[in-house]
Amino acid sequence: MSSSPDPKTYYIETWGCQMNDLDTQRLSGQLTLRGFRRASSEHDADLILLNTCSVREKSEQKMFSELGRLRAAKERGARIGVCGCVAQQEGEAILARAPYVDFVMGPGNVGYLDDVLEGRARVAVEFPDDRRYDWIAIDRPSAVRAQVTIIEGCNKNCTFCIVPTTRGREVSRPMRDILAEVAHAISTGRVEIELLGQTVNAYVCPESSADFSDLLSGVARVAGVARLRFMTSHPSEVTPRMVAAMRANANICRYIHLPVQSGSSSVLRRMKRLYNREKFLSIVAMMREEIPTIRFSTDVIVGFPGESDEDFEQTLSLLEEVRFGSIYAFKYSERPGTASLRLGAPVDDELSTARLNRLFELQARIERETLLAYEGCVVPVLYEGPSRHDPSVASGKSEDNWTVNFHCQDVPAVGTLVDVHVIGAKHHSLFGKAVS
Ligand code: SAH
Ligand code: F3S
Repeated sequence: MSSSPDPKTYYIETWGCQMNDLDTQRLSGQLTLRGFRRASSEHDADLILLNTCSVREKSEQKMFSELGRLRAAKERGARIGVCGCVAQQEGEAILARAPYVDFVMGPGNVGYLDDVLEGRARVAVEFPDDRRYDWIAIDRPSAVRAQVTIIEGCNKNCTFCIVPTTRGREVSRPMRDILAEVAHAISTGRVEIELLGQTVNAYVCPESSADFSDLLSGVARVAGVARLRFMTSHPSEVTPRMVAAMRANANICRYIHLPVQSGSSSVLRRMKRLYNREKFLSIVAMMREEIPTIRFSTDVIVGFPGESDEDFEQTLSLLEEVRFGSIYAFKYSERPGTASLRLGAPVDDELSTARLNRLFELQARIERETLLAYEGCVVPVLYEGPSRHDPSVASGKSEDNWTVNFHCQDVPAVGTLVDVHVIGAKHHSLFGKAVS
């Protein structure tokens, strides 16, 4: 192990998804318990953690180049740890290429930071049966919102995806623990709960076999939960019971992130997404039938091996049909060990870029129209504080995650739900006036 003195300040650099953000909150909570303070930058930190993401290309190169940069910190005596999905994926190989790294720790070992810091393991990449989910210590950055993991890992085998390798098989947390964590978060003033997992709707309580719809109803009924959100849902796991639970509880956001990935059934089959275009559209229609005000966002991949012009046109037409408020779109990238490597080369890079640009153009128009359609409506906004750009204006989030800036006569308490009359739309945000 490192010969550096016992470090007392830390800095964590976080890439990637919300699960990684939450892992950083957990790591920081544990470090605080051990007496560490957060440093304002890596330059004055005694312990530097890189919490990496490997979902898209070049993450390995990015990590090694960051590590190269951190050599200077090492020379002044800092300890360096690599966490997250690239740590899981590369393991020992990181130490071979960057021997000055003190430890490597995968996402299954976030609860075991103590062991790693004390030198009991230099490369911790196995998936312990007991994940030691230390929720009391989580260092939550938001005063109004708490993110709560309900399920770790993923049992789906989407052919493009590295997550099942880096985060392991699904492990659901006991519903009892989740409810206790939610109640604790509420007691600290948080009013919005966001349930997190790679596939939240595959949740099954290991103690009671309660499913995701039971959990949704249970959390929605915890006193003080003003708002409940969740992500990510897999389309093939959306059930009528889950939708009924959403409908029955007014504090569950009328919003769902539902990754479609492609509008072409033949691409979806090769991605092993477990639904086709028609099935996806029927899920959206069923949800709209049950909850007419529900809104959707999604993820899309372009340039998957074998994606033809016709396949891509189907993705565009699906976006037109569903009209997602927002989308996250990515060029397909080859990930080590994934099944899609055997499906041939990705679409030519220039063509993929052109497709991605067309997709963004279409979505920009849909997003604009979505935002303009809010004009004149009254929407509930969870007040988070003054706007960063203009402190004289209040700011918060709508149910479907848009930033809403608004004027109000009396500044509400942080965490209050305020009805806002929307006057207009800006780039990616809405503005209006609180209804008195
Ligand atoms: N569990 C979630 C998210 C997984 S990763 C789900 O079920 O969708 C987040 C997003 O990254 C995916 O939805 C996908 O759109 C994108 N992604 C994952 N692997 C990718 C790859 N190899 N190339 C490009 N995008 C990818
Ligand atoms: Fe990845 Fe598919 Fe699971 S996108 S996280 S394998 S649902």
